[in-house]
Amino acid sequence: MLIRNLEEIKLANKSFHIQTFGCQMNEHDSETLAGMLEEMGYEENNHKKEADVAIINTCSVRENADKRFFGTLGQLKKVKEARPDVVVAVCGCMMQQQHIIDTLKSKYPWVDLVFGTHNLHEFPKLLTNVLNERSKVVDIWEEGGDIVEGLPAKRMYPFKAFVNIMYGCNNFCTYCIVPYTRGRERSRQPEEILSEVRELVKTGVKEITLLGQNVNSYGIGADFSMDFADLIYRLNEIEGLERIRFMTSHPKDLSDKLIQAYGDCKKLCNYIHLPVQSGSTQILNRMNRKYTKEDYLKLIEKLKVVSPDIAITTDIIVGFPGETDEDFEETMDLVQKVRYDSAFTFLYSIRKGTPAESFQDQVPEAVKHERFNRLVDVMNEITAEKNKAYEGKIVSILVEGPSKTDPKTLTGRTESGKIVNFNGSLEQVGKIIEVRITEGKTFSLTGELI
Ligand code: 5AD
Ligand code: SF4
Repeated sequence: MLIRNLEEIKLANKSFHIQTFGCQMNEHDSETLAGMLEEMGYEENNHKKEADVAIINTCSVRENADKRFFGTLGQLKKVKEARPDVVVAVCGCMMQQQHIIDTLKSKYPWVDLVFGTHNLHEFPKLLTNVLNERSKVVDIWEEGGDIVEGLPAKRMYPFKAFVNIMYGCNNFCTYCIVPYTRGRERSRQPEEILSEVRELVKTGVKEITLLGQNVNSYGIGADFSMDFADLIYRLNEIEGLERIRFMTSHPKDLSDKLIQAYGDCKKLCNYIHLPVQSGSTQILNRMNRKYTKEDYLKLIEKLKVVSPDIAITTDIIVGFPGETDEDFEETMDLVQKVRYDSAFTFLYSIRKGTPAESFQDQVPEAVKHERFNRLVDVMNEITAEKNKAYEGKIVSILVEGPSKTDPKTLTGRTESGKIVNFNGSLEQVGKIIEVRITEGKTFSLTGELI
Protein backbone atom coordinates (compact mmCIF):
# COMPACT_ATOMS: atom_id res chain seq x y z
CA MET A 1 0.00 0.00 0.00
CA LEU A 2 1.39 3.38 -0.97
CA ILE A 3 1.35 5.83 1.94
CA ARG A 4 1.13 9.46 0.87
CA ASN A 5 0.59 11.41 4.08
CA LEU A 6 0.56 11.23 7.86
CA GLU A 7 -3.20 10.82 8.08
CA GLU A 8 -2.96 7.64 6.02
CA ILE A 9 -0.33 6.24 8.40
CA LYS A 10 -2.64 6.84 11.37
CA LEU A 11 -5.66 5.38 9.62
CA ALA A 12 -3.74 2.31 8.53
CA ASN A 13 -2.66 1.41 12.12
CA LYS A 14 0.99 1.36 11.18
CA SER A 15 3.58 0.23 13.70
CA PHE A 16 7.34 0.37 14.26
CA HIS A 17 10.03 -1.63 16.01
CA ILE A 18 13.50 -0.36 16.94
CA GLN A 19 16.39 -2.58 17.95
CA THR A 20 19.21 -0.69 19.62
CA PHE A 21 22.83 -1.69 20.03
CA GLY A 22 25.45 0.11 22.08
CA CYS A 23 25.64 2.90 24.59
CA GLN A 24 23.13 5.16 26.32
CA MET A 25 23.68 7.78 23.64
CA ASN A 26 22.30 5.30 21.12
CA GLU A 27 19.46 4.34 23.43
CA HIS A 28 18.51 7.98 23.66
CA ASP A 29 18.74 8.40 19.87
CA SER A 30 16.27 5.51 19.61
CA GLU A 31 13.96 7.32 22.03
CA THR A 32 14.09 10.29 19.65
CA LEU A 33 13.33 8.08 16.64
CA ALA A 34 10.40 6.54 18.54
CA GLY A 35 9.15 10.03 19.42
CA MET A 36 9.30 11.11 15.77
CA LEU A 37 7.52 7.94 14.61
CA GLU A 38 4.72 8.46 17.14
CA GLU A 39 4.31 12.03 15.90
CA MET A 40 3.94 10.54 12.43
CA GLY A 41 1.13 8.32 13.69
CA TYR A 42 2.99 5.04 14.14
CA GLU A 43 2.58 2.87 17.21
CA GLU A 44 5.33 0.88 18.88
CA ASN A 45 5.22 -2.86 18.21
CA ASN A 46 7.20 -5.26 20.37
CA HIS A 47 7.33 -7.86 17.62
CA LYS A 48 9.77 -6.89 14.94
CA LYS A 49 8.38 -9.42 12.47
CA GLU A 50 5.00 -7.66 12.55
CA ALA A 51 6.15 -4.03 12.40
CA ASP A 52 5.70 -1.87 9.30
CA VAL A 53 8.92 0.00 9.95
CA ALA A 54 11.81 -2.04 11.42
CA ILE A 55 14.85 -0.03 12.47
CA ILE A 56 18.24 -1.20 13.67
CA ASN A 57 20.26 1.47 15.49
CA THR A 58 23.86 0.28 15.33
CA CYS A 59 27.04 0.53 17.41
CA SER A 60 30.57 0.24 16.07
CA VAL A 61 32.63 0.50 19.22
CA ARG A 62 33.78 -3.13 19.17
CA GLU A 63 33.89 -5.85 16.54
CA ASN A 64 31.21 -8.08 18.08
CA ALA A 65 28.71 -5.22 17.76
CA ASP A 66 29.36 -5.24 13.98
CA LYS A 67 28.85 -8.98 13.81
CA ARG A 68 25.64 -8.88 15.81
CA PHE A 69 24.28 -6.17 13.54
CA PHE A 70 24.77 -8.19 10.36
CA GLY A 71 23.25 -11.26 12.07
CA THR A 72 20.19 -9.27 13.11
CA LEU A 73 19.86 -7.65 9.71
CA GLY A 74 20.01 -11.07 8.05
CA GLN A 75 16.94 -12.12 10.07
CA LEU A 76 14.98 -9.21 8.63
CA LYS A 77 15.55 -10.44 5.09
CA LYS A 78 12.92 -13.17 5.53
CA VAL A 79 10.45 -10.60 6.90
CA LYS A 80 11.08 -8.36 3.91
CA GLU A 81 10.54 -11.28 1.50
CA ALA A 82 7.26 -12.23 3.17
CA ARG A 83 6.02 -8.63 3.42
CA PRO A 84 7.72 -6.44 0.79
CA ASP A 85 5.89 -3.33 2.09
CA VAL A 86 7.91 -3.39 5.32
CA VAL A 87 10.42 -0.56 5.53
CA VAL A 88 13.78 -1.78 6.82
CA ALA A 89 15.92 1.10 8.09
CA VAL A 90 19.44 1.06 9.54
CA CYS A 91 21.15 3.93 11.30
CA GLY A 92 23.68 4.84 13.99
CA CYS A 93 27.44 4.75 14.32
CA MET A 94 28.18 1.93 11.89
CA MET A 95 26.61 3.93 9.08
CA GLN A 96 29.29 6.61 9.43
CA GLN A 97 31.85 4.16 8.03
CA GLN A 98 32.20 3.89 4.26
CA HIS A 99 33.14 0.20 4.27
CA ILE A 100 29.86 -0.61 6.04
CA ILE A 101 27.86 1.39 3.49
CA ASP A 102 29.68 -0.47 0.69
CA THR A 103 28.80 -3.83 2.29
CA LEU A 104 25.16 -2.81 2.70
CA LYS A 105 24.94 -1.73 -0.93
CA SER A 106 26.50 -4.88 -2.31
CA LYS A 107 25.13 -7.57 0.04
CA TYR A 108 21.93 -6.11 1.47
CA PRO A 109 20.32 -4.23 -1.45
CA TRP A 110 16.84 -4.89 0.04
CA VAL A 111 17.46 -2.44 2.92
CA ASP A 112 15.20 0.56 2.26
CA LEU A 113 16.70 3.37 4.34
CA VAL A 114 20.23 4.08 5.55
CA PHE A 115 21.08 7.17 7.57
CA GLY A 116 23.77 8.19 10.05
CA THR A 117 24.29 9.84 13.41
CA HIS A 118 24.42 13.41 12.07
CA ASN A 119 21.07 13.46 10.28
CA LEU A 120 18.88 11.65 12.79
CA HIS A 121 16.61 14.72 12.91
CA GLU A 122 15.89 14.25 9.18
CA PHE A 123 14.42 10.79 9.74
CA PRO A 124 10.73 11.72 9.19
CA LYS A 125 11.60 13.33 5.85
CA LEU A 126 13.74 10.37 4.78
CA LEU A 127 11.06 7.86 5.76
CA THR A 128 8.40 9.85 3.90
CA ASN A 129 10.64 9.78 0.81
CA VAL A 130 10.94 6.00 1.03
CA LEU A 131 7.17 5.61 1.46
CA ASN A 132 6.29 8.01 -1.35
CA GLU A 133 8.82 6.91 -3.91
CA ARG A 134 9.06 3.27 -2.82
CA SER A 135 12.72 3.57 -3.58
CA LYS A 136 15.86 3.11 -1.52
CA VAL A 137 17.27 6.13 0.34
CA VAL A 138 20.88 6.32 1.55
CA ASP A 139 21.74 9.62 3.21
CA ILE A 140 24.86 9.98 5.37
CA TRP A 141 26.30 13.31 6.52
CA GLU A 142 30.06 13.44 7.02
CA GLU A 143 29.96 15.99 9.82
CA GLY A 144 27.42 17.15 12.39
CA GLY A 145 25.87 20.54 11.68
CA ASP A 146 24.27 22.81 14.29
CA ILE A 147 22.57 21.02 17.14
CA VAL A 148 18.88 20.55 16.36
CA GLU A 149 16.68 21.32 19.37
CA GLY A 150 13.09 20.45 20.13
CA LEU A 151 13.02 16.90 18.79
CA PRO A 152 10.41 14.65 20.41
CA ALA A 153 11.33 11.60 22.48
CA LYS A 154 9.38 8.56 23.57
CA ARG A 155 11.11 7.92 26.89
CA MET A 156 11.50 4.44 28.29
CA TYR A 157 10.53 5.46 31.84
CA PRO A 158 8.27 8.31 33.03
CA PHE A 159 10.42 8.92 36.12
CA LYS A 160 13.97 8.92 34.76
CA ALA A 161 15.38 10.35 31.57
CA PHE A 162 18.51 10.76 29.49
CA VAL A 163 19.45 14.32 28.59
CA ASN A 164 22.13 14.98 26.00
CA ILE A 165 24.41 17.82 26.96
CA MET A 166 26.96 17.46 24.19
CA TYR A 167 27.69 15.46 21.07
CA GLY A 168 30.90 14.11 19.58
CA CYS A 169 34.42 13.63 20.89
CA ASN A 170 37.76 15.37 20.27
CA ASN A 171 39.97 12.96 22.15
CA PHE A 172 41.00 10.43 19.55
CA CYS A 173 42.00 7.65 21.90
CA THR A 174 43.97 5.46 19.50
CA TYR A 175 41.69 2.41 19.83
CA CYS A 176 38.40 4.27 19.47
CA ILE A 177 36.08 4.72 16.52
CA VAL A 178 33.75 7.24 18.19
CA PRO A 179 35.45 10.48 17.05
CA TYR A 180 35.00 9.24 13.47
CA THR A 181 31.34 8.20 13.87
CA ARG A 182 30.08 10.99 16.14
CA GLY A 183 32.19 13.91 14.89
CA ARG A 184 33.68 16.82 16.83
CA GLU A 185 32.50 18.05 20.23
CA ARG A 186 29.46 20.34 20.25
CA SER A 187 27.81 21.49 23.48
CA ARG A 188 24.15 22.28 23.85
CA GLN A 189 23.26 25.73 25.14
CA PRO A 190 22.82 25.64 28.95
CA GLU A 191 19.37 27.23 28.71
CA GLU A 192 18.19 24.45 26.37
CA ILE A 193 19.38 21.80 28.83
CA LEU A 194 17.92 23.54 31.88
CA SER A 195 14.56 24.09 30.24
CA GLU A 196 14.43 20.48 28.99
CA VAL A 197 15.11 19.25 32.53
CA ARG A 198 12.50 21.61 34.03
CA GLU A 199 9.94 20.30 31.54
CA LEU A 200 10.87 16.69 32.33
CA VAL A 201 10.48 17.34 36.06
CA LYS A 202 7.01 18.80 35.41
CA THR A 203 6.02 15.48 33.81
CA GLY A 204 7.23 13.47 36.83
CA VAL A 205 10.92 12.80 36.07
CA LYS A 206 12.97 12.45 39.27
CA GLU A 207 16.32 11.35 37.91
CA ILE A 208 18.29 12.57 34.92
CA THR A 209 21.41 11.14 33.33
CA LEU A 210 23.41 13.75 31.47
CA LEU A 211 24.91 12.24 28.34
CA GLY A 212 28.04 13.04 26.38
CA GLN A 213 31.15 11.14 25.23
CA ASN A 214 33.19 13.35 27.53
CA VAL A 215 30.88 15.45 29.68
CA ASN A 216 33.86 17.04 31.45
CA SER A 217 34.66 19.08 28.37
CA TYR A 218 31.15 20.54 28.27
CA GLY A 219 31.29 24.20 27.24
CA ILE A 220 34.89 24.15 25.98
CA GLY A 221 35.08 26.29 22.84
CA ALA A 222 31.39 27.23 23.10
CA ASP A 223 29.95 30.74 22.82
CA PHE A 224 28.80 30.69 26.46
CA SER A 225 30.81 30.56 29.66
CA MET A 226 29.56 27.65 31.66
CA ASP A 227 31.53 24.50 32.37
CA PHE A 228 30.26 21.08 33.39
CA ALA A 229 30.56 21.72 37.13
CA ASP A 230 28.60 25.01 36.75
CA LEU A 231 25.90 23.09 34.91
CA ILE A 232 25.63 20.56 37.76
CA TYR A 233 25.29 23.37 40.32
CA ARG A 234 22.50 24.94 38.20
CA LEU A 235 20.66 21.64 37.77
CA ASN A 236 20.98 20.97 41.48
CA GLU A 237 18.73 24.01 42.08
CA ILE A 238 15.81 22.64 40.06
CA GLU A 239 12.96 21.97 42.42
CA GLY A 240 11.41 18.50 42.11
CA LEU A 241 14.51 16.99 40.54
CA GLU A 242 15.99 14.44 42.92
CA ARG A 243 18.92 12.71 41.25
CA ILE A 244 21.57 13.79 38.78
CA ARG A 245 23.91 11.32 37.06
CA PHE A 246 26.26 11.69 34.12
CA MET A 247 28.03 9.52 31.54
CA THR A 248 30.91 9.48 30.59
CA SER A 249 33.72 11.51 32.02
CA HIS A 250 37.34 11.46 30.92
CA PRO A 251 39.87 11.44 33.79
CA LYS A 252 42.11 13.99 32.07
CA ASP A 253 39.35 16.62 32.32
CA LEU A 254 37.93 15.80 35.75
CA SER A 255 38.28 19.14 37.53
CA ASP A 256 38.64 19.90 41.24
CA LYS A 257 35.53 22.02 40.79
CA LEU A 258 33.52 19.00 39.67
CA ILE A 259 34.93 16.89 42.50
CA GLN A 260 33.80 19.61 44.92
CA ALA A 261 30.31 19.43 43.43
CA TYR A 262 29.99 15.97 45.01
CA GLY A 263 30.29 17.68 48.38
CA ASP A 264 28.02 20.62 47.57
CA CYS A 265 25.23 19.28 45.36
CA LYS A 266 22.83 17.05 47.23
CA LYS A 267 21.20 15.79 44.05
CA LEU A 268 24.41 14.65 42.41
CA CYS A 269 24.43 10.87 42.90
CA ASN A 270 27.26 9.52 44.97
CA TYR A 271 28.59 7.66 41.97
CA ILE A 272 31.05 8.15 39.13
CA HIS A 273 31.86 6.12 36.05
CA LEU A 274 35.47 6.98 35.35
CA PRO A 275 36.93 4.85 32.56
CA VAL A 276 40.60 4.08 33.22
CA GLN A 277 41.15 1.74 30.22
CA SER A 278 44.52 0.49 31.55
CA GLY A 279 46.63 0.66 34.71
CA SER A 280 49.89 0.93 32.80
CA THR A 281 51.16 4.44 32.15
CA GLN A 282 53.00 3.21 29.07
CA ILE A 283 49.81 1.73 27.58
CA LEU A 284 47.79 4.80 28.57
CA ASN A 285 50.31 6.85 26.64
CA ARG A 286 49.95 4.64 23.55
CA MET A 287 46.19 4.90 23.94
CA ASN A 288 46.55 8.72 23.88
CA ARG A 289 44.70 9.01 27.18
CA LYS A 290 46.85 11.90 28.49
CA TYR A 291 47.07 10.80 32.14
CA THR A 292 49.29 8.41 34.09
CA LYS A 293 48.35 5.66 36.52
CA GLU A 294 49.42 7.98 39.34
CA ASP A 295 47.30 10.89 38.02
CA TYR A 296 44.30 8.59 37.96
CA LEU A 297 44.89 7.27 41.48
CA LYS A 298 45.22 10.85 42.71
CA LEU A 299 41.79 11.66 41.26
CA ILE A 300 40.28 8.69 43.08
CA GLU A 301 41.86 9.87 46.32
CA LYS A 302 40.44 13.39 45.86
CA LEU A 303 36.98 12.00 45.12
CA LYS A 304 37.12 9.87 48.27
CA VAL A 305 38.11 12.88 50.38
CA VAL A 306 35.05 14.84 49.26
CA SER A 307 32.75 11.83 49.18
CA PRO A 308 34.13 8.90 51.22
CA ASP A 309 31.42 6.42 50.16
CA ILE A 310 31.43 7.28 46.48
CA ALA A 311 30.76 4.29 44.21
CA ILE A 312 33.20 4.09 41.33
CA THR A 313 32.89 2.06 38.14
CA THR A 314 35.16 1.93 35.13
CA ASP A 315 35.92 0.58 31.66
CA ILE A 316 39.05 -1.50 31.08
CA ILE A 317 40.48 -2.72 27.79
CA VAL A 318 42.57 -5.89 27.96
CA GLY A 319 45.15 -6.75 25.32
CA PHE A 320 45.76 -3.36 23.75
CA PRO A 321 48.66 -3.63 21.25
CA GLY A 322 52.01 -3.81 23.04
CA GLU A 323 50.47 -4.75 26.42
CA THR A 324 53.09 -6.88 28.20
CA ASP A 325 52.57 -9.09 31.25
CA GLU A 326 54.03 -6.26 33.33
CA ASP A 327 51.58 -3.75 31.85
CA PHE A 328 48.71 -6.05 32.63
CA GLU A 329 49.94 -6.50 36.21
CA GLU A 330 49.76 -2.69 36.52
CA THR A 331 46.07 -2.94 35.62
CA MET A 332 45.54 -5.69 38.19
CA ASP A 333 47.34 -3.57 40.76
CA LEU A 334 45.23 -0.50 39.97
CA VAL A 335 42.02 -2.50 40.26
CA GLN A 336 43.08 -3.72 43.71
CA LYS A 337 43.97 -0.19 44.79
CA VAL A 338 40.79 1.51 43.58
CA ARG A 339 38.46 -1.36 44.51
CA TYR A 340 35.85 -0.46 41.92
CA ASP A 341 32.22 -1.23 42.61
CA SER A 342 32.22 -2.81 39.19
CA ALA A 343 34.12 -2.69 35.92
CA PHE A 344 33.14 -3.17 32.30
CA THR A 345 35.98 -5.21 30.86
CA PHE A 346 36.60 -5.48 27.12
CA LEU A 347 38.94 -7.47 24.94
CA TYR A 348 40.72 -5.02 22.66
CA SER A 349 39.25 -5.21 19.17
CA ILE A 350 40.79 -3.63 16.09
CA ARG A 351 38.67 -0.82 14.64
CA LYS A 352 39.18 0.08 11.01
CA GLY A 353 40.49 3.61 10.52
CA THR A 354 41.80 4.10 14.08
CA PRO A 355 45.54 4.69 14.73
CA ALA A 356 45.87 1.44 16.75
CA GLU A 357 44.75 -0.55 13.71
CA SER A 358 48.25 -0.21 12.31
CA PHE A 359 50.12 -0.91 15.56
CA GLN A 360 52.33 -3.89 14.80
CA ASP A 361 52.50 -5.51 18.22
CA GLN A 362 48.97 -6.92 18.50
CA VAL A 363 48.54 -9.26 21.49
CA PRO A 364 47.75 -12.92 20.63
CA GLU A 365 44.09 -13.84 21.23
CA ALA A 366 44.92 -16.59 23.74
CA VAL A 367 46.97 -14.17 25.87
CA LYS A 368 44.18 -11.59 25.74
CA HIS A 369 41.62 -14.14 26.90
CA GLU A 370 43.79 -15.44 29.71
CA ARG A 371 44.35 -11.90 31.04
CA PHE A 372 40.70 -11.02 30.57
CA ASN A 373 39.54 -14.03 32.61
CA ARG A 374 41.95 -13.20 35.43
CA LEU A 375 40.72 -9.63 35.53
CA VAL A 376 37.05 -10.63 35.48
CA ASP A 377 37.62 -13.09 38.34
CA VAL A 378 39.28 -10.45 40.51
CA MET A 379 36.66 -7.86 39.65
CA ASN A 380 33.83 -10.25 40.52
CA GLU A 381 35.42 -10.84 43.91
CA ILE A 382 35.75 -7.10 44.56
CA THR A 383 32.18 -6.41 43.36
CA ALA A 384 30.83 -9.18 45.61
CA GLU A 385 32.78 -7.82 48.57
CA LYS A 386 31.50 -4.28 47.91
CA ASN A 387 27.93 -5.54 47.68
CA LYS A 388 28.31 -7.61 50.86
CA ALA A 389 29.29 -4.41 52.68
CA TYR A 390 25.77 -3.08 51.99
CA GLU A 391 24.19 -5.77 54.19
CA GLY A 392 22.27 -4.20 57.07
CA LYS A 393 22.47 -0.69 55.57
CA ILE A 394 19.46 1.47 54.79
CA VAL A 395 19.58 2.91 51.28
CA SER A 396 17.23 4.98 49.18
CA ILE A 397 16.23 3.51 45.84
CA LEU A 398 14.29 4.76 42.85
CA VAL A 399 11.78 1.98 42.17
CA GLU A 400 11.82 1.02 38.48
CA GLY A 401 9.20 -1.73 38.22
CA PRO A 402 8.81 -5.51 38.36
CA SER A 403 12.02 -7.50 38.07
CA LYS A 404 12.66 -9.00 34.63
CA THR A 405 13.49 -12.40 36.08
CA ASP A 406 10.78 -12.54 38.75
CA PRO A 407 7.69 -10.38 38.10
CA LYS A 408 6.55 -10.81 41.72
CA THR A 409 9.61 -8.85 42.88
CA LEU A 410 10.18 -5.13 42.36
CA THR A 411 13.51 -3.66 41.44
CA GLY A 412 15.01 -0.27 42.15
CA ARG A 413 18.39 1.41 41.99
CA THR A 414 20.52 2.95 44.67
CA GLU A 415 22.29 6.27 44.10
CA SER A 416 25.35 4.16 43.38
CA GLY A 417 23.48 2.50 40.53
CA LYS A 418 23.14 -0.89 42.21
CA ILE A 419 20.08 -3.00 41.53
CA VAL A 420 17.99 -3.84 44.61
CA ASN A 421 15.29 -6.54 44.45
CA PHE A 422 12.60 -6.37 47.11
CA ASN A 423 8.99 -7.28 47.81
CA GLY A 424 6.97 -4.13 47.36
CA SER A 425 3.81 -2.92 45.70
CA LEU A 426 3.32 -1.51 42.24
CA GLU A 427 2.27 1.92 43.52
CA GLN A 428 5.87 2.37 44.65
CA VAL A 429 7.09 2.37 41.03
CA GLY A 430 8.61 5.75 40.16
CA LYS A 431 9.05 6.71 43.84
CA ILE A 432 12.22 7.04 45.87
CA ILE A 433 11.87 4.88 48.98
CA GLU A 434 14.13 3.52 51.70
CA VAL A 435 14.93 -0.16 52.06
CA ARG A 436 17.19 -2.20 54.30
CA ILE A 437 19.67 -4.41 52.46
CA THR A 438 19.40 -8.02 53.62
CA GLU A 439 21.79 -9.64 51.16
CA GLY A 440 24.60 -8.43 48.91
CA LYS A 441 25.15 -10.76 45.94
CA THR A 442 27.71 -10.41 43.14
CA PHE A 443 25.42 -8.65 40.70
CA SER A 444 22.55 -7.35 42.82
CA LEU A 445 21.32 -6.57 46.31
CA THR A 446 18.24 -7.89 48.08
CA GLY A 447 16.31 -5.53 50.32
CA GLU A 448 13.24 -5.28 52.52
CA LEU A 449 10.85 -2.41 53.16
CA ILE A 450 11.31 -0.56 56.46
N1 5AD B 1 38.28 -2.40 21.72
C1 5AD B 1 37.82 -2.73 22.95
N2 5AD B 1 37.14 -1.89 23.72
C2 5AD B 1 36.90 -0.64 23.25
N3 5AD B 1 36.26 0.41 23.79
C3 5AD B 1 36.28 1.42 22.89
N4 5AD B 1 36.94 1.05 21.78
C4 5AD B 1 37.34 -0.23 21.97
C5 5AD B 1 38.06 -1.17 21.20
N5 5AD B 1 38.52 -0.86 19.98
C6 5AD B 1 35.69 0.40 25.13
C7 5AD B 1 36.34 1.46 26.03
C8 5AD B 1 35.25 2.48 26.16
C9 5AD B 1 34.01 1.62 26.10
C10 5AD B 1 32.75 2.34 25.78
O1 5AD B 1 34.31 0.70 25.06
O2 5AD B 1 36.64 0.87 27.26
O3 5AD B 1 35.32 3.21 27.37
FE1 SF4 C 1 36.43 7.14 22.43
FE2 SF4 C 1 38.34 8.26 23.94
FE3 SF4 C 1 36.34 9.77 22.93
FE4 SF4 C 1 35.81 8.03 24.90
S1 SF4 C 1 37.16 9.82 25.05
S2 SF4 C 1 34.64 8.34 23.00
S3 SF4 C 1 37.22 6.35 24.41
S4 SF4 C 1 37.93 8.69 21.76
